[in-house]
Order: sequence, then structure tokens, then C-alpha cells
Amino acid sequence: MDFASLKEECLACRRCGLCETRRHVVFGQGVEDAEVMFVGEGPGASEDEQGLPFVGRSGQLLDHYLEAVDLDRNKNIFIANIVKCRPPENRDPAPGEAAACLPWLRAQFKLLHPKIVVCLGRVAAQQLISPDFSVTKDHGKFFDKQGTLFMATRHPAALLRSPADKPESFGDFVALRDKINEVCLHTYEK
Ligand code: URA
Repeated sequence: MDFASLKEECLACRRCGLCETRRHVVFGQGVEDAEVMFVGEGPGASEDEQGLPFVGRSGQLLDHYLEAVDLDRNKNIFIANIVKCRPPENRDPAPGEAAACLPWLRAQFKLLHPKIVVCLGRVAAQQLISPDFSVTKDHGKFFDKQGTLFMATRHPAALLRSPADKPESFGDFVALRDKINEVCLHTYEK
């Protein structure tokens, strides 16, 4: 299976009820040889409209942090979500929706083999790192899971609501840059 076929199958997905209300499946965006992958919670209204992840206000903030550490969705990372269709009213994805959607993310991991996965917010961190993960307590720490490093940082939408947390979260991106320099071969070469 290559990325193009995976995307084609994913765009036709009807594995959970979110397919009834979505406008677009948000497969993800980035380069196919990314060593670093970011995973959010699920598309919001702007993402549902455009079919691309993190393109609303929180996406603008994310791009700003990424740029500060030389990361760019068009150059050296891949951005995806736990669920690929918008949960109505921006509610958290239901457990059954996340479970139905996770095989798509696993297939993306399998094709990309990222060295580092950054969870954006609680929902992604609890799905991918541990069910009782506290982003407030454990943001910025790296966890080795079978050779892949996982880290969580606050969701950019949470930073828009609580700007006082921005300096600490920026620190997570600086720690990420240092970790990339330690374990990744090509991220900053292009
Ligand atoms: N919030 C998310 O978690 N993901 C997106 O793609 C956009 C907003």
C-alpha cells in the first residue's frame, strides 16, 4: 500500500457515524518522508471545509511555532489527527469513533515510520501515549515506545484560550528541535 492508495481509501471511509455529517475527510498533510509527525484531535469547521488539518486559528498558531523551529508541513513534517472527520459542534471524538478511525493513523505510521510523534493536546496524548496522560504535568517529555519517541504538548486551541501557557509550550518546541537534532537524520537538511 502506498500513500496515494491509502488516501484514496480513507477519503471514501464510512467506518463511523461522522461520515454522515462531514464535508471532507481530513486525511492529513505533509511530506511522505517526514521523520516527525504531529497528531491533533480531529478537524474543526475550517478543516472540514478545506479538507486540510490545522488551517483555522489554532492552525495559524501551530504554523507559527513550527516556523520558529524550522518545521514546515510543506517541507519536513506530516500532520494528522486522531479522527479524520469533524465531530459535530467540535465535541471530543467518541471512543467508538476514535477506535474506528485509528487504523488509518496506524497505516500512516506504518508508511512514514516517524522517529518522533508529537501529540497536540490531551485527546491525542491519551490515545497514543497513555490513557491517563496529563498534558499539564508531562508536556515536553519524550517517551520511547518500541523505538518511536512520543511527546505531547498543549493543543494550540488551548493556548488561544490560555495565552499564559504559551512560553512553556514554546519550550516544548525548542526541546523538540533539540531532540530532532539528536535522533533525526534529514529533517533540517532540505
Ligand atoms: N484541531 C485539531 O485537533 N485538529 C485540526 O486539524 C484542527 C483543529
